[in-house]
Amino acid sequence: MPKYILIIGACGQIGTELTLALREKYGNDHVIASDIREGNDELMQSGPFEILDATNYDNLEEVIAYYDISEIYLMAAMLSATAEKFPMRAWNLNMNTLFNVLNLAKEKKIDKIFWPSSIAVFGPNTPKENTPQNTIMEPSTVYGISKQSGERWCEYYFNKFNVDVRSIRYPGLISWKTMPGGGTTDYAVEIYHKALSESSYMCFLKEDTKLPMMFMDDAIRATLQIMEAPESKIKERSSYNLAAMSFTPKEMAENIKAILPKFTIDYSPDFRQNIADSWPSSIDDSKAQKDWKWKAEFDLQKTTETMLENLKNRV
Ligand SMILES: NC(=O)c1ccc[n+]([C@@H]2O[C@H](COP(=O)([O-])OP(=O)(O)OC[C@H]3O[C@@H](n4cnc5c(N)ncnc54)[C@H](O)[C@@H]3O)[C@@H](O)[C@H]2O)c1
Repeated sequence: MPKYILIIGACGQIGTELTLALREKYGNDHVIASDIREGNDELMQSGPFEILDATNYDNLEEVIAYYDISEIYLMAAMLSATAEKFPMRAWNLNMNTLFNVLNLAKEKKIDKIFWPSSIAVFGPNTPKENTPQNTIMEPSTVYGISKQSGERWCEYYFNKFNVDVRSIRYPGLISWKTMPGGGTTDYAVEIYHKALSESSYMCFLKEDTKLPMMFMDDAIRATLQIMEAPESKIKERSSYNLAAMSFTPKEMAENIKAILPKFTIDYSPDFRQNIADSWPSSIDDSKAQKDWKWKAEFDLQKTTETMLENLKNRV
């Protein structure tokens, strides 16, 4: 029997591209997109869609039964910068949606879960360079606290109830199809839009703030890969470190200037600087490489070329 998949938060930056990739792989009708709002035309026209608030267990259960869902990708969350403004809303959304999905699996109503964590689980006392899989984790942001708690609960549900939940600590994600949803690494997407429309960008982080980043195609490939891996290969039931590249806003601007020589950048750090300062600069993802053969394909150069090419064609 072919499986049916539900994406929660399908209209967001990752959900949009993840839904399209899963539809390509499993067939449009087998991948149900859901969100509290409608998404872009490409997403809405490519297959089934449900308006669904994932904090409501009963509504979620109804959709699962109706479509005979066996796998859930839970992409709904409040991201780092927005969560600092609405701490309780962020905690409620990020934790309750996860509990709802974990409990559906505990009750054997679904078989498998993907839930994304983040480099935000690390904090100011974590080793900054080549941050190991297992290390000090003392997150200092609302978002990071919710992600670290989420990781603990995922591992707990695996150990206690044998729930097959798989997770990746995504770095900052760069993409052109959908705008980012309120994170600290959003500058790395906005910069390309502004480079093309205004030839200049005012960056909200300092020029030397080095953060781990990844192009969306790599992130989607990693997500499909970890979900397809045999169960015996998944050794981490909290979440896997994942890496592709690390760079500063200055390095990114120089990379863009090589293609668009008129481009200029200025810096005006805001509250997001504090969040960025608490995060690692680079990530050791050797466990993901070893356990399920992860390997990144996009570096900064290839990311810049792909971003500018696709955004230019859209204008
Ligand atoms: N984008 C990144 O750089 C990044 C990095 C690390 C981790 N992550 C994680 O990946 C996941 C997806 O991130 P994203 O960037 O696509 O976020 P996003 O903000 O772009 O999208 C989230 C989606 O969830 C939806 N949503 C909000 N409340 C909902 C609810 N109650 N029920 C159903 N849907 C709801 C929103 O409408 C939105 O479309 C999140 O868990 C995020 O923490 C993202």
